[in-house]
Amino acid sequence: MIITETDLFYMQKALALAKLGRFTTTPNPSVGCVIVKDNQIIGEGYHRRAGGPHAEVYALQMAGPCAQNATVYVTLEPCSHFGRTPPCANALIQAGVKRVVVAMQDPNPNVAGNGLARLSKAGIMVDVGVCQKEAEQINRAFFKRMRTGLPYVQLKLATSLDGKIAMASGESQWITSPTARQDVQCFRAQASAILSTCATVQADNASLTVRHTELPEAIQSIYPSTDVRQPIRVILDGQNRLVGCENIFQQPGDTWVVRKENTPINAPNSQLLVESSHYPHINLTALLKMLGERQINSLWVEAGAHLAGALIEQNLVDELIIYYAPKLLGHNALDMCILPKLQQLALAPEFVFQSVTMLGHDLRVILTPKQ
Ligand SMILES: NC(=O)c1ccc[n+]([C@@H]2O[C@H](COP(=O)([O-])OP(=O)(O)OC[C@H]3O[C@@H](n4cnc5c(N)ncnc54)[C@H](OP(=O)(O)O)[C@@H]3O)[C@@H](O)[C@H]2O)c1
Ligand SMILES: [Zn+2]
Repeated sequence: MIITETDLFYMQKALALAKLGRFTTTPNPSVGCVIVKDNQIIGEGYHRRAGGPHAEVYALQMAGPCAQNATVYVTLEPCSHFGRTPPCANALIQAGVKRVVVAMQDPNPNVAGNGLARLSKAGIMVDVGVCQKEAEQINRAFFKRMRTGLPYVQLKLATSLDGKIAMASGESQWITSPTARQDVQCFRAQASAILSTCATVQADNASLTVRHTELPEAIQSIYPSTDVRQPIRVILDGQNRLVGCENIFQQPGDTWVVRKENTPINAPNSQLLVESSHYPHINLTALLKMLGERQINSLWVEAGAHLAGALIEQNLVDELIIYYAPKLLGHNALDMCILPKLQQLALAPEFVFQSVTMLGHDLRVILTPKQ
């Protein structure tokens, strides 16, 4: 495979298009496509929502008959199966394109190399692996679900410099600044679901919604208010303490209440999930499996120290996102994570810094578990 600067340039364009879909495509991946002929872009598109046309379809529509003998750049292997839409591999063959450059093979077992094979068999030149790392990153949540059946878990904590998440009274609004909270809105908007607990929902009177007016302006312009999707709110309620009139149930979007027994809750827009294994709390691995089966790609966790600690202790966190406010809350305040079993430094969970960003007066640190 010979990859040129030109290939990298157009694949970057396709990746930028793919990113535009990141708020709306769940449970599908975000995909972008650019069609090029005589060094001119003649077609482009991205997947917007599940059930809607795939990126290649928009790009082919725009290119029309000019697509003949053109080169197609697409951030994920074209599909080969009849899902909600016909296979894109067939559409590319019918359009008579000459070459297809793909960032990566699709790990979805319905595709997994079949799309590439079909293109090659039709005599189209196929090159795979251009900007693969960036393509993996954009859809890391979808790929994790395809490969493991579990959602990609992002644990968010807003803390003081001394790692405290609330005052002893439970008061925690607001430790961080509006700029940091705007950033949280941006992460929420991309998540398939938000996980929290009855304890946090009741302590904070939380709504756990995406509020368009609180998204950064640059995001508002690419993600209009008419398209806003509310991630599913998943609330752990192992002791059946939610009563149904909490703020979350008055908000737009659906709430899934997770209980140990089949005790339905009488609350608007809610569904009961029953996780009944022999374990005093909700079994988190079993819950993640249930969420994966329900096509939840990414799970954004906003909860207190108990759930944070349990997820870390059980190695269920893929990304830890900490917002540090330049404040000290002192020793009476609540810790950010409770790890009851930890006694030895050698066994402390370890992470790797991925990024450190100033957000207004606060600091955002993104970490991944050390392998
Ligand atoms: N600053 C922040 O980022 C932030 C974010 C959220 C919340 N908070 C603050 O955190 C405080 C609440 O913290 P918290 O520690 O009391 O509550 P929490 O961690 O949100 O939730 C506690 C609940 O988690 C469940 N749980 C505990 N251990 C578990 C395990 N091993 N497996 C599965 N589930 C488990 C239990 O539910 P069951 O009893 O139902 O089994 C327990 O009641 C509030 O004051 C809130 O303001 C701060
Ligand atoms: Zn397709």
